[in-house]
Amino acid sequence: MIRVLFIGDVCGKPGRKALSEIVPGLRSKYDIDLVMTNVENIAHGRGATVSTIQEAMASGVDFMTAGNHIWRNPQFEDVLSGEFPVIRPINYPRDLPGKGYGEIDLGPKGIFLVISVMGVAFFYQERTLSEPFRALDEFLDNIDIDSYAGILVDFHAEATGEKLSAGLYLDGRVSAVLGTHTHVPTADERILNNGTAYITDVGMTGPLDSVLWVKKEIIFAQNKYPYSPGYEIQEEGPLKFDAVLIDIDGPRKALGIKRINKIL
Ligand SMILES: [Fe+2]
Ligand SMILES: [Fe+2]
Repeated sequence: MIRVLFIGDVCGKPGRKALSEIVPGLRSKYDIDLVMTNVENIAHGRGATVSTIQEAMASGVDFMTAGNHIWRNPQFEDVLSGEFPVIRPINYPRDLPGKGYGEIDLGPKGIFLVISVMGVAFFYQERTLSEPFRALDEFLDNIDIDSYAGILVDFHAEATGEKLSAGLYLDGRVSAVLGTHTHVPTADERILNNGTAYITDVGMTGPLDSVLWVKKEIIFAQNKYPYSPGYEIQEEGPLKFDAVLIDIDGPRKALGIKRINKIL
């Protein structure tokens, strides 16, 4: 059995603070084998930098996925160079930096595989994405699934229906399908019929009193006027921490999935 903690999109300095305050304690309390998070917002809400990735690793994060916002910080080339345990969605063009999957060596427990993929519904600006179900088929049909100790898919998408259909589509082919990107946790975590753990969205880790990390007053202005100030992160106030804890029993099956949602 492999126990994985997957933390929802970490947002800026408040998110990194929540990581450092919560992850070490959870790691020992639950005897976790592998800690992962999505880092598309870890550097001031936009993308990731080398130093913010290193900060997450120092807090106990082992492996990181990304999404559409990973390209918003010019350091994406360094972050995705292969030097750091960070991947980006597999259905972006092959000539872009980074890979869409990563292997983690868990010693005697085996090799764990992580796949990052983007949904396409409502991502009108992401013109370079290819169809995610076909991208997943192409990848999974060309690996030896049963050689892995566990397989986790981060399905980074806007639409709940697209994420649920991905979970059902991959049921029994991977250990877990977890949704990210909306920053709002859903309460539908469950083990699907063929054994795969699923949740539509894990949520986010960052400033609670914000709109998905952005200062709320900026979003109010954006809604009321045709012009708006640039986004700024909400630095002060309480923090939220959203994650799921999954017990994985092989590459096609999980035994349990439990939400961990904290405010601090
Ligand atoms: Fe995000
Ligand atoms: Fe995103």
